[in-house]
Amino acid sequence: MKESIVLFGPPGAGKGTQAELISELTGKPQVSTGDMLRKAVSDKSQLGIEAKKYMDSGLLVPDNIIIDLIKNRLEEKDSVSGVLFDGFPRTIHQAEELDKITEVKVVISLIVPDEEIVERIVGRRMDPKTGDIYHISFNPPPEEISHRLIQRKDDTEETVMQRLTSYHEQTKPLGEWYEKQEKLVPIKGNETIEEVGKAISAAISKFR
Ligand code: AP5
Ligand code: MG
Repeated sequence: MKESIVLFGPPGAGKGTQAELISELTGKPQVSTGDMLRKAVSDKSQLGIEAKKYMDSGLLVPDNIIIDLIKNRLEEKDSVSGVLFDGFPRTIHQAEELDKITEVKVVISLIVPDEEIVERIVGRRMDPKTGDIYHISFNPPPEEISHRLIQRKDDTEETVMQRLTSYHEQTKPLGEWYEKQEKLVPIKGNETIEEVGKAISAAISKFR
């Protein structure tokens, strides 16, 4: 059976930032539902048009849409030995459906206090060419690419408060669900990017 890893945490916890490292360590491709949805929005597909309403207001996209997206993605060739999920699952229902198609081996949970989230989100910049993630203070981009960087539409102070509410109400209970199954590995996410990476590497090596 496929063995997958889940990267879990609130908005701005550093899931996207750390995903590349975990993919390198494990050989598992990153599957980010946020990135997949943003692609659908920019393609103006039916799914993108539907999802945009929720994303722009900081709400979770309905489970049935997300589960279909993941089922299709896991049929692709590169996922035969499992994947690294970033931002999925986010509800207990999504996790129960996931258990039918892959075995979740470990859940890396990045812990960052709410007070630090807003500054991280509002200062985030994305490189649309490479998908690289920067922060104006914590991970400044190279000068030569700064002209092409963009801000995500949902990275406003107002939307992030709603995203945090959605996280606490709908996603945090899933952390407790995985904890009961002894799959949750908490990692302190408010250290430097390098230090968080080291802690993740150490945790991952125990599961290989
Ligand atoms: P998604 O794109 O997944 O957004 P999110 O969960 O809110 O997480 P982010 O991508 O904002 O944060 P991140 O943890 O990846 O942090 P990052 O590494 O970028 O989802 C977007 C929307 O899509 C959702 O709101 C929802 O509507 C929908 N959606 C997606 N999946 C869904 C699902 N499964 N079910 C239902 N709906 C779904 O880092 C953030 C910033 O901090 C960056 O600037 C970075 O440089 C900086 N940073 C990172 N690490 C550190 C560090 N250690 N110290 C200082 N700064 C750091
Ligand atoms: Mg992300």
